[in-house]
Amino acid sequence: MSFTPTSVLVTGGAGFIGSNYLLHVVPAHPDTQYVNLDALTYAGNLANLRAIEEADNYAFVHGDINEGALIDRLFEEHQFDAVVHFAAESHVDRSILDPTAFVTTNVHGTLVLLQAARKAWEGAKHACRFHHVSTDEVFGTLGMEGHFTADTPYAPRSPYAASKAAADHLVRAFGTTYDFPYVITNTSNNYGPYQFPEKLIPLVIRNAVVGDPIPVYGKGENVRDWLFVEDHCEALDSVLHQAGDQTTWLIGGDQEITNLELVERLLDEVDRATGKPVGTRRSLIQFVTDRPGHDFRYALDSSPVKEALKWTPKHDLSSGIARTVAWYLGNMDWLNDVLDGGYREYYAAQYGSRGMN
Ligand SMILES: NC(=O)c1ccc[n+]([C@@H]2O[C@H](COP(=O)([O-])OP(=O)(O)OC[C@H]3O[C@@H](n4cnc5c(N)ncnc54)[C@H](O)[C@@H]3O)[C@@H](O)[C@H]2O)c1
Repeated sequence: MSFTPTSVLVTGGAGFIGSNYLLHVVPAHPDTQYVNLDALTYAGNLANLRAIEEADNYAFVHGDINEGALIDRLFEEHQFDAVVHFAAESHVDRSILDPTAFVTTNVHGTLVLLQAARKAWEGAKHACRFHHVSTDEVFGTLGMEGHFTADTPYAPRSPYAASKAAADHLVRAFGTTYDFPYVITNTSNNYGPYQFPEKLIPLVIRNAVVGDPIPVYGKGENVRDWLFVEDHCEALDSVLHQAGDQTTWLIGGDQEITNLELVERLLDEVDRATGKPVGTRRSLIQFVTDRPGHDFRYALDSSPVKEALKWTPKHDLSSGIARTVAWYLGNMDWLNDVLDGGYREYYAAQYGSRGMN
C-alpha cells in the first residue's frame, strides 16, 4: 500500500525522536507540509530544529495535545491527512515518582487527538492515517530467551508503560469501533543526537566528560536492545508511507547489551575520543539501588518490518556509539543549555548526591 500525505500534524516534534524525525522528513518530502505541535515541557527543545525552522513546509505551534479546541482548529486550518503522534511523557523514572502527567498526556492527550482526527476524517478516512509512536515496554519483560512480536499480549509493568499500552489500546479500539485508519509502531530504546540528558546514554557521556559519578542501577545486568534514532526515523517514515492500514510494526536494532557493558563501551569511547587511555573513566561507575519493578530484558522481532518494508538499520552499536559520543562532544553547548535548574532538581531527587555535584 502506498500513502502520500500532504499535510501532517506531528506532535512532540521538539523532543528527542520527534526532532530527529522532522530533521529527516521535512527536507525529504518538500511537497508535504509538517505542523509541529509541542507543549515544550522540560523535554521539548526548539534548538533541536534550527536546521529546518525556516523551511517552507514546516511550522511550529506551541500547544498542548489535551486542548481539544486547539486541535480542532488546527485540523480545520491545515486539513491534516496524517498525524504522527510522538508527544508523551517518556521517562520511566519520572512515572514512578508521579504517574499523573503520564495518564494526562499519554492517555487523555491521545484520546483528544483521536477524537479530533475521527471527526475531521469522517467520510475520507481511508485517505488519512494516524500513526501512534509507541514502545516495546507495553509487552512487559523477557527472560534470557525470546523476542516480542506484534502478537505478544500486553503486560506493562511501569506507569509509563501502562499509559503507552492504554494509548495503543485506544488507537486499536478506534480502528475496530469506528473503522479508523491507523498504524502503530512499538520501538526499542533509541539513542543518538538531541536526547535529553536524563536518559542513560547522554547522561553517561555528560558525566564522563565532567568527571561526575555514573549511576548504574542494580548490578547493571538488565538487557536492552538499542536502535540509533536516525534508523528509527527512517523506519517510521517507511511505515507511514508504505504500511497497510490498521497494522502494527515492531522496530528494534537487534543490538542487545547489558546496561553495564553499554556504559563501559560509552566510557571507553569517550576516553578514545578525548585522547585518554581507554578504560580510565570506568572508575566513575557507581552501582545504585535498582529501579522498582525494573524490567529485565526487552527484545523485538523486527523481521516483518525488514521483510515487508525493506527497512534495515544502518548503524550497529559500534558505529552508533561512535557517532553519538562525537555528537555530544561536539555539542557541549547544547548539553549545558539543557542542564537547567529544573533538571538538576529532578536529578537530585532521583539519584541523591550520588550522580550530580
Ligand atoms: N526514547 C525512546 O527510546 C523511545 C522508545 C520507544 C518509544 N518512544 C516513544 O516515542 C515518543 C517520543 O519519545 P522521545 O524520547 O522523543 O520523548 P521526549 O520526552 O524526548 O519528547 C516528548 C516531547 O513531547 C512534548 N510533549 C509532552 N507533553 C505534551 C503535551 N501534553 N502536548 C504537546 N506536547 C507534549 C515534549 O515537550 C517533548 O518535546 C514517545 O511517545 C515515546 O513513548 C520512545
